[in-house]
Amino acid sequence: MVDNAGQPSVSVSDPEAATAFDVVVLGAGSGGYACALRAAQLGLRVALVEEDKLGGTCLHRGCIPTKALLHSAEVADAVTHSGAFGVLAALTGVDVPAVRAYRDGVVDRLFKGLTGLIKGRGITVVHGRGRLSGPRSVLVESADPEIAPVELTGGAVVVATGSVPRLIPGIEVDGEQMLTSDDAVALARIPVRAVVIGGGVIGCEFASMWRSLGAEVTVIEALPRLLPTEEPASSKVLERSFRKRGIAMKTGITVAGVDRVDAEASGTGPTDVRLRLSDGGELLADTVLIATGRAPRTDGIGLAEQGVILDRGFVLTDPLGRTGVEGLFAVGDIVPGLQLAHRGFAQGIVVAEVIAGQSPAPVRDELVPRVTYCVPEVASVGLTSQQAEERYGADAVLTLTYDLGGNGKSQILRTQGHALLVRRVDGPVVGIHLVGERVGELIGEAQLIVGWEAHPDDVAALIHAHPTQNEALGEAHLALAGKALHAHA
Ligand code: NAI
Repeated sequence: MVDNAGQPSVSVSDPEAATAFDVVVLGAGSGGYACALRAAQLGLRVALVEEDKLGGTCLHRGCIPTKALLHSAEVADAVTHSGAFGVLAALTGVDVPAVRAYRDGVVDRLFKGLTGLIKGRGITVVHGRGRLSGPRSVLVESADPEIAPVELTGGAVVVATGSVPRLIPGIEVDGEQMLTSDDAVALARIPVRAVVIGGGVIGCEFASMWRSLGAEVTVIEALPRLLPTEEPASSKVLERSFRKRGIAMKTGITVAGVDRVDAEASGTGPTDVRLRLSDGGELLADTVLIATGRAPRTDGIGLAEQGVILDRGFVLTDPLGRTGVEGLFAVGDIVPGLQLAHRGFAQGIVVAEVIAGQSPAPVRDELVPRVTYCVPEVASVGLTSQQAEERYGADAVLTLTYDLGGNGKSQILRTQGHALLVRRVDGPVVGIHLVGERVGELIGEAQLIVGWEAHPDDVAALIHAHPTQNEALGEAHLALAGKALHAHA
């Protein structure tokens, strides 16, 4: 139950063993392990409690395996469209076991690397399910009844238990045809006819991936557009592209119910799920993905009992991760805001530094970059035009859209899209919104521009390599600075 990870060994079956640490971290996902690594780096004695594998959702069920699958889908697209580049190739099939082996290879290598890193930093990993037994203590129970529970105490306890897929009341998930994203990422087949409920980040990524791998796909989104929290212009380009790719979309619609039909008897082909829609319509599918958000995993871990304030299951904290209960911190998806691995990671580092007595700057959600890795990619940082207008007044905000049609590399890649900048009049750029293939890789520059409160002139003065898609950011800022060379703005 306990790994000796280089520190004095702790055996939970040995009640005499040392169980006092400077920091006990509950949950070894991105937020938890980042906190543990930073705390150890700062010289603190750290215990990291995890009931599953080190790395959490991001490494085993989320970011990493889905992006590997999306890369296989991208390769399939490259083959399908190779003729447009003068290369004669045909997609004759997708070897699903080989795709899975590739995905697992990526995850395994990263998992080994992370395990080694944690061990190398002298962090004590305690395997089992942890629950707060006091504000500064965690009781860890093993799945193995032979192993006695152990109570770990810490100068501080950091809760980083993450999130789970949110389900729709009345709609059962079976892991075979009715899926959460956990099931979808592990699926051993490519759907024939898929319905994706929820046109947010997960919905758009799976819709895109399955379509590239040959499935018929329909996305159902309750709100009026896909990726409803992104800049409306990004959703528009994405929807146009999805439509061109043959992905059907039903927006402003929800699912009223799901029935099973006998596919053979009904002669509907490989479609034994019937979805009844809120507009009275129906859809048949062999695979349904429910991607309607993620819920915080905070039940049954003793938070309320210790006096922590919860709001619909989320832990309320101050900007430095403090829960209000002395010595008890929370990071990651259980804290209201963007549920992104890199946000949790950054919060984990901040909390470790606070515990070590440092004065780090808090994580500001609006400076956390966001990327949806579908085709085309959608990436953004900072405020949307609407948020900027609400904050500064409509007259105090300017937007500029630079079409990728004017960007050489985007033409070479045959991708369409744009860079949309939001700036305060006579002030800095406060939001950047990108859509187009590979634009996720441009978000690094965009986040520096917004994070460092650059003015268009500051960026316009910087030389961008030619031909790159980054040039689009350079040109957009030249245009916003009134110096457009290629008048696509
Ligand atoms: P989401 O909040 O991004 O999207 C859920 C969508 O479902 C929303 O657009 C919502 O309007 C819609 N919806 C809710 N109930 C519905 C219903 N009954 N019928 C139809 N539509 C309904 O959540 P999602 O996509 O499940 O992702 C969960 C979290 O994981 C997000 O916070 C996301 O940012 C994160 N994530 C991030 C990734 C990335 O950074 N690339 C990849 C995957 C997940």
